[in-house]
Amino acid sequence: MRRCRLIYKSIANPEILESGAIEDLMKLASERNSESGITGILLLSGDRFLQALEGPVRFVNQLFIKIANDGRHHDIELVDYEDINHTCFHDWSMRLLNLKNLDQNQSELLRQKYSHSGDAINYPNDKMLLFSLLMDAKNILLESD
Ligand SMILES: Cc1cc2nc3c(=O)[nH]c(=O)nc-3n(C[C@H](O)[C@H](O)[C@H](O)COP(=O)(O)O)c2cc1C
Repeated sequence: MRRCRLIYKSIANPEILESGAIEDLMKLASERNSESGITGILLLSGDRFLQALEGPVRFVNQLFIKIANDGRHHDIELVDYEDINHTCFHDWSMRLLNLKNLDQNQSELLRQKYSHSGDAINYPNDKMLLFSLLMDAKNILLESD
């Protein structure tokens, strides 16, 4: 079965940033994703989302169409799409990392490596750096488990 990894970024609309809204979204997303073999990670930095979706090409494509039409965010920009032989987030049907909830050390580490505006980390335009940020986010989540 052909598998792919799709990465996009977007800007959150205010209602999804209200208390508990993203957590509710993640719960539903994880349930749905596990039914279709999709795994991934969602980062939130200020009001900016960055999400990686991995899984069977057909399901990832179908899901991205839904996500791209979701009124809870806007300015959706596809940043990477590639066929993969192995998944990076295979343990997670979807995990959220809100960068505003990091402890001081974690926050400092990211701010040293990536450009930032105030407290918010800017998502790198360079694909290697962007992937490196996703891997740092994964490691932060693993450490917190
Ligand atoms: C930032 C963001 C990320 C999302 N991630 C997922 C996801 O990983 N899986 C998922 O099923 N839905 C995700 N959704 C929700 C979908 O856009 C959609 O609302 C959901 O799949 C339900 O669709 P349906 O009830 O029309 O089938 C996300 C929405 C947003 C705004």
